[in-house]
This record gives sequence, structure tokens and C-alpha cells, in this order.
Amino acid sequence: MKKLNSEIKIFETPQELAEEFAAGLTDRFRMAVMKRTVFTVALSGGSTPGILYSVLAEKYNNSVDWRYIHFFWGDERCVPPDDLESNYGMAYSKFLSKIDIPQKNIHRIFGEDQPEQEAVRYAVEIMKNTRKHKGLPMFDQVILGMGEDGHMVSIFPSNRELLDTEKICEVAVHPLTGQKRVTITGKVINNSALVTFLVTGASKAVTLGKVFKKDPEFPASSVMPFDGTLTWMIDRKAGSFIK
Ligand code: 6PG
Repeated sequence: MKKLNSEIKIFETPQELAEEFAAGLTDRFRMAVMKRTVFTVALSGGSTPGILYSVLAEKYNNSVDWRYIHFFWGDERCVPPDDLESNYGMAYSKFLSKIDIPQKNIHRIFGEDQPEQEAVRYAVEIMKNTRKHKGLPMFDQVILGMGEDGHMVSIFPSNRELLDTEKICEVAVHPLTGQKRVTITGKVINNSALVTFLVTGASKAVTLGKVFKKDPEFPASSVMPFDGTLTWMIDRKAGSFIK
């Protein structure tokens, strides 16, 4: 069996975590710029990425040639882009509106469109604009949050079949609110070069302890990049049940 290439980093606060991740991420961006290659990132919704976006905008807006960086989303709530729930909306207001990046590099999910059709359109958008590995898109970086129920992107314990589907994007339904989402699937996540979970807060601690024991009930337990690297960046509160 292939050995999983993974790393865990624990921080005192979400702010420290976001600062360290932003520093590493922008180093990877600059490396791609030096080589004149495109770098593709799938962003996430959630509270910790929100802090990350502010750090990126404040500290790195002028230190990266953004023409080489392409932004995608791991999932989107089916709402218009100006809705407070929109993952694109959050990334745009906190970060993307504050950097000099060509519009064509921002590959958002159209949350306002018919979800099933949008899942098909977004799969084509990803295929066209990423490199391929084993016939699937290969993001250079996927950023993930984890919910208290162990979900990541919009793959919940109730729709774990999205971990193994052959499709690149699917429609998901939030198990509590019934809100529709468009999400990338498990195989696309595991085909990425680098997957990083950003997890903070005491409410995640019990689940995180179980995810580290590979409890299959939780979708986050299934993240094991086929040929890439997995990094967990967590704060001390979220990490209190990890041995
Ligand atoms: C979303 C997400 C989702 C999120 C987790 C963690 O759109 O809701 O992409 O997977 O990352 O729910 O969110 P928090 O960091 O806010 O706990």
C-alpha cells in the first residue's frame, strides 16, 4: 500500500494559522510565476478561509504576479454572488476585489444558475483550465474546511457517494437546511497535488479526533491524495482530541 504523504501543524490561534498558510501559499504562487506556469487553486467557504482571505489581501496583494494564478471553488451554495451566503462573494469581497488579477482567472461557480446544469458547466470549466493527471483534473492546491459533522466541500455524511463518483462536479443538498450546493467530488480532491485542511475551534475537536482515526462515517476521513500531499493546519482548540 502506498504511504500517505501527510503533515499536521498545530497553531495557538486561527490568525496564526492563517498567517502561516498564507506565507506558504504565496511562496508556492511565486514559484509558479518564476517558472512561468499557471497555478490552480480551489478555494473553500467557511470561517477560517475568511481570515486567510483578509491576510492574503492585506499582506500579499502586491507581492504576487496574479496573472499566473487561477482561482476555482471547491463548492458553492446555490445563491446569487451578492448573497451573504455565497462562497465566491466572501472571497471576492475580502480578497479578490483587492488584487490585480485578470477576470478570466476567476472561475466561480454560478450559484444563481440551475444547479444540475451548473454542475455540468463547471466540470467542463475545470477540465478546460487545469492540468490533467490520470484523466482527471489536478489542482495544484485544494483548500478545505471541515464541518462539525465531518463534511468537507459539500460532501456530507448523508451523500458520501460523492466521494467515489466518476463525475467531477455534483449537486449536493445540505442535510439540515435543504440548501442546494454545487461541489467538486472526492476523486478530484484526491487527485490534487496538495490538499490543505484549515480547521479551527473547539466545536470541531471530537470529530477531528475521529477523522484522525479514519472513522469512515466522516467524509473528511477519505481525503488521501493519490499522488499528492495532505496537510492539516489546525488550532489548539480543534486539536484537543488528537493523540
Ligand atoms: C461551505 C464549505 C464547507 C466549510 C465547512 C467548514 O461552503 O460551507 O465549503 O465545507 O468549509 O463547513 O466551515 P467553517 O470553517 O465555517 O467551520
